Amino acid sequence: MHRIQDAKKRWEFMCGEDSSLLIAMNKAGAKYIPVGCRAGGCGVCKVKILSGECHTKTMSRAKVTELDEARGVVLACRAYPRSDMVIDVAVKNEIKQ
Ligand code: FES
Repeated sequence: MHRIQDAKKRWEFMCGEDSSLLIAMNKAGAKYIPVGCRAGGCGVCKVKILSGECHTKTMSRAKVTELDEARGVVLACRAYPRSDMVIDVAVKNEIKQ
């Protein structure tokens, strides 16, 4: 299990490597990250990784561009942690090409 924390340490939850960040957050009964389609298409669960590593499954390029991804932006419903992580949820409209 890995510890997933907000950048400002306002919250945290635990997430196994076989669970997406969004599913683990839901299982913890929390609503820190907005939830939409849960399938990598709508983009509402976009977060920026500030530290830590994750594996990502297919994400909509319309929602996460290659440049976004290079800057650490992922969709929480498609991100599976490989270490403890610190993430920023307030990323929605900050990242432009
Ligand atoms: S909930 Fe829709 S992309 Fe993650």
